[in-house]
Amino acid sequence: MDRFLTRPFVHLSLATALVAGFGLGAAAFGATLLGVPAGRWWPALAQAHGHAQVFGFAGLMVFGVAFVFLPRLRGAPLRGARFVPWVLLLYGGGVWLRVLAQTVGALVFDGGAPGTVVGPAMSLSAVLELAGAALAIGLLVRTGMHGPPLGQRAGVTQVLPLLVVAWSGLLAALLANLLSVVLQPPSDAALGRHLVAEPSLDALAVQLALLAWLVPLSVAFAARNFPLFLWTAVPAARSLWLGLALHVPGLVLGIGAWALGPQQLYAGGWALQGAALLWWTYAVGALGPKTRQPGKTADPLEAALFRLSRTPLTGAFAWLAVAGLLMLAGAASSLAGLPTPPPDAERHAVGAGFVLLLITGMALRLIPGFGGGKRRVNLRAAAIAVWAAQLSALLRVGPLLAAWLLGLLGAGPLPGVTPLLTLAGLAGMVSIAALWIALWGALAPPAQPSASAG
Ligand code: HEM
Repeated sequence: MDRFLTRPFVHLSLATALVAGFGLGAAAFGATLLGVPAGRWWPALAQAHGHAQVFGFAGLMVFGVAFVFLPRLRGAPLRGARFVPWVLLLYGGGVWLRVLAQTVGALVFDGGAPGTVVGPAMSLSAVLELAGAALAIGLLVRTGMHGPPLGQRAGVTQVLPLLVVAWSGLLAALLANLLSVVLQPPSDAALGRHLVAEPSLDALAVQLALLAWLVPLSVAFAARNFPLFLWTAVPAARSLWLGLALHVPGLVLGIGAWALGPQQLYAGGWALQGAALLWWTYAVGALGPKTRQPGKTADPLEAALFRLSRTPLTGAFAWLAVAGLLMLAGAASSLAGLPTPPPDAERHAVGAGFVLLLITGMALRLIPGFGGGKRRVNLRAAAIAVWAAQLSALLRVGPLLAAWLLGLLGAGPLPGVTPLLTLAGLAGMVSIAALWIALWGALAPPAQPSASAG
């Protein structure tokens, strides 16, 4: 059953990342490298790529893992498991409808006559995604209301507030996304009618998805799994909640600033969220001392996976700290009237740094264990996935940070940025393809016992 719950979500997540996520990202930079002028297609492809990465790649992987991991944590079987295929159909179908409508609309019809179906298709996609996510959350909430008394499940109470914030964050992000596609810009020729979601609501949806949903959920998953996967000390519940006490007011100030605009609100929101990300990095302990000598385990596959997953899991939290520092720098520089860090760098420190590396490391450790029985992982492909993911993150964020820092020192524009950003997309594609190969055996249906067996 576990494989059935996880397998289609993981396949669809990786396919989305490969084609619509990293594929579109690499193609966008590659096109400008080849001299294609950035026209109306750029904002449409940028939105399709961002949506595919955040809601498709990360979102589908999260559901595939959550349907197995959270019921185990609660000590109760998933309630209403027969509805899981509907989640895949509604949510996954919504993500792909959005990506196809926006990409085909931009590249083939350029928003022209047949492109007028793009707007309604994007609206339908947002409704499907919201319905699928609401169904999934409903199943998890019903599961949470059963099982042994919560007092006997210290692991659940440790991370419950993070889970509540995270799933509420997903609903808020998908609501903002729905508004962004219903309220498309009516006649902005530069953006292209029908092709883009309303940009400021789209940016809000992305921020909420990354910071209100994926970050708290990832911290909860890391808090439960890192003591096993990285041999960190178990983080105290209060320490995780202190992060929330900084993060939630930071998110509220950020939304207030988005709605009302004053710079002081932005600065306050950035400062609190940045402090929360740094605090969680410390609390989860990925970068700190470990409780046991790593790598000493009797099971050779387990030992190999330990060694392979250690760098991306640690690296993910190093990138979360970078994102936190960028937010603090954003708060300080906006108050000082200096250029703030590029939002694209901050977004990708979380997306290409934290999310990509965490998914790579966690998938290698969690998914082979979901099916039970003999675990098959292609270790050579896993090694390629790990190193390509780290290269991709470095190439996507490093040049933007270097350009910003040089700008602060008064230097001119940094040459050679676009080829590096294109390479980041290609490295991301390599990483996803290798991860897929590495996990292929672990995701395959269990072999049927042969008639002569026994
Ligand atoms: C490392 C390879 C990647 C490449 C080459 C890439 C490329 C791009 C490009 C070209 C844009 C448009 C930037 C602009 O218009 O200023 C963009 C935006 C974005 N990317 Fe990426 N990206 C990568 C990885 C990721 C990952 C892993 C995530 C998330 C998990 C992500 C999430 C986003 C988001 C949310 C946006 C904003 C989209 C919007 O405006 O709605 N990217 N990326």
